[in-house]
Amino acid sequence: MDARLILLHVLALLAVVAGGGGGGGAVVGRESAVLPLRELQWGSSGQGRYSQSKRFEKKMTGEHKKSAAARTTSTTVLELKHHSLTAISDHPAAQESYLRRLLAADEARANSLQLRNKAAFTQSGNAAAAAEVPLTSGIRFQTLNYVTTIALGGRSSRAGVGNLTVIVDTGSDLTWVQCKPCSVCYAQRDPLFDPAGSASYAAVPCNASACEASLKAATGVPGSCASGSGNSEKCYYALAYGDGSFSRGVLATDTVALGGASLDGFVFGCGLSNRGLFGGTAGLMGLGRTELSLVSQTASRFGGVFSYCLPATTSGDAAGSLSLGGDTSSYRNATPVSYTRMIADPAQPPFYFMNVTGASVGGAVAAAGLGAANVLIDSGTVITRLAPSVYRAVRGEFARQFTERYPAAPPFSLLDTCYNLTGHDEVKVPLLTLRLEGGADMTVDAAGMLFMVRKDGSQVCLAMASLSFEDQTPIIGNYQQKNKRVVYDTVGSRLGFADEDCTYA
Ligand SMILES: *[C@@H]1O[C@H](CO)[C@@H](O)[C@H](O)[C@H]1NC(C)=O
Ligand SMILES: *[C@@H]1O[C@H](CO)[C@@H](O)[C@H](O)[C@H]1NC(C)=O
Ligand SMILES: *[C@@H]1O[C@H](CO)[C@@H](O)[C@H](O)[C@H]1NC(C)=O
Ligand SMILES: *[C@@H]1O[C@H](CO)[C@@H](O)[C@H](O)[C@H]1NC(C)=O
Repeated sequence: MDARLILLHVLALLAVVAGGGGGGGAVVGRESAVLPLRELQWGSSGQGRYSQSKRFEKKMTGEHKKSAAARTTSTTVLELKHHSLTAISDHPAAQESYLRRLLAADEARANSLQLRNKAAFTQSGNAAAAAEVPLTSGIRFQTLNYVTTIALGGRSSRAGVGNLTVIVDTGSDLTWVQCKPCSVCYAQRDPLFDPAGSASYAAVPCNASACEASLKAATGVPGSCASGSGNSEKCYYALAYGDGSFSRGVLATDTVALGGASLDGFVFGCGLSNRGLFGGTAGLMGLGRTELSLVSQTASRFGGVFSYCLPATTSGDAAGSLSLGGDTSSYRNATPVSYTRMIADPAQPPFYFMNVTGASVGGAVAAAGLGAANVLIDSGTVITRLAPSVYRAVRGEFARQFTERYPAAPPFSLLDTCYNLTGHDEVKVPLLTLRLEGGADMTVDAAGMLFMVRKDGSQVCLAMASLSFEDQTPIIGNYQQKNKRVVYDTVGSRLGFADEDCTYA
């Protein structure tokens, strides 16, 4: 049984009601939302059954192509889901320790983003085009991250072609999957990718530029060379994440299927030694900014644009979407996409930053900015982290508006503002709005405001946390990005936001 699955499911139910019209029309100037609150229903089957929604199966069969005056762009759509392979006991204590582990892992990630080394990185120029892949939330894989499914291996492969469920990460670049023959692999749900079964698989030669500069930009260290079983030298990569997770293996190329689109010569890591908080996924899709990221590698096809819509519910069948390419026809946004400038930091090459010029809660201004020039937006961090002074202001305003009617509950992990909502059928939740440079607003969906620790509603917390120091980088986490279309236009150098009901299935 998966605790978060239920949590988000309930919040999603709440969100639907909060939308007033089922999320239909544009709601401008929304300040708060009324949420119905009910006892969580624990589903009968906790096992993470993975199923593609019918809607997406259709979409995924064909790549959308569209000729523009200046260039040809194409777009492909992938399903995006929470992943939840781990069965969690119904017992409250088990659920609580599960949530604690998840938030501890999130803290490790948030810290690792702060500690990123400041080595100089080179950034290649951008090309242009679009593809869409489905996104699902990472719950099934023991994290709060979102996953999508890709396939590696060419058509002529024997058994090489396989669907692989991977974590979607905008905070790193190199895509990797666990590969046969694994020396150290964690248990994954999909069959291991077998390079020997794919006729189109090839190791990247050691003297290729991908092994040197590109890998250094993507991982901080260039590849190392060693003779494989053949006579040619292979390029070995070593990826280390801040929380101690790692993947090491052979840098390789193969054909990758992304929704309806198929691309040859995709550079990825064939991981022979992998360990960490990847749960039951096959690996990770890197959507960062350097040249080895999926976005950069597919830029001539998809124009360097991608977007996602993260579902609020973690129910196994609920899927949002990951679109590669700039074709907006696959969006179901309820409000127009409004853009703000995308900011790059040469010292932190993979990351996407923006300038947040204000924060309000329930329509009341709480802060004149987020206390830092660059605010990181990340698909892999769960809980939004704010500078201590900004967090205090936001929390204060939220509490002022919310606690008038709801008694306090004990803090939980990194969440320090919690309420006992037992006995309330509905709660009115003030919403956080971020004012972005250029005038765009991003209002957090009702589903992204509260984190339900206990299924009976007796411990429900404001889903945001404080950084340790004022000068750390604020992070907009995925919990606050739910039910939004978030557009990353790396060529136009802009980030876009629109309200969207992301439960596509
Ligand atoms: C991969 O997923 C697609 C889309 O759901 C499905 O049609 C196909 O049969 C799957 N392939 C394998 C090998 O499971
Ligand atoms: C890499 O090495 C191979 C074999 O030694 C050679 O044929 C090839 O030209 C080299 N490639 C580059 C880019 O130097
Ligand atoms: C952020 O935007 C504000 C308002 O446009 C501007 O005054 C400020 O200089 C910007 N900050 C940075 C670091 O660009
Ligand atoms: C929450 O509030 C209810 C109703 O007021 C009360 O019975 C219950 O003991 C409280 N639970 C906790 C954990 O404080």
